Amino acid sequence: MNALTIVSLVSFVVSVLTAGLIAAAQARQAPSDEHPTLPAGPGREVMIRVCSQCHEPENAAAQELDEKGWKSLVDDMASKGADATDAEFEEIVRYLVNAFPPPPK
Ligand code: HEC
Repeated sequence: MNALTIVSLVSFVVSVLTAGLIAAAQARQAPSDEHPTLPAGPGREVMIRVCSQCHEPENAAAQELDEKGWKSLVDDMASKGADATDAEFEEIVRYLVNAFPPPPK
């Protein structure tokens, strides 16, 4: 076995280990269901249930809004016919503000 073979073996092992670590880190962050782009947090389940009524709940992941912005977006969805109680809409707004806050100024 020459030095080059050893170097490539070592780098292969390192890259396999790194890939494993990255996968493990991602698995911890995102719940492993069919909505990996929606971060964990209180209100996530109710948001997925209510916001899946018409389109993918992932639509929300394209937005980064403050509380006012999320509230008016959720109100807009309610006026389109989203079906939930006031308490559930409030929970959804809180989840969305935590999950997709506005970008830093
Ligand atoms: C009654 C049907 C319905 C429900 C339920 C619903 N939406 Fe929507 N949503 C729509 C429609 C229709 C559009 C696209 C047309 C539009 O933007 O006017 C849309 C578009 C969006 C968009 C893209 C808007 C943009 O400006 O690009 C986001 C974000 C979104 N919805 C988030 C949500 C969230 C969050 C929920 C849960 C609170 C939700 N939707 C529930 C009907 C719904």
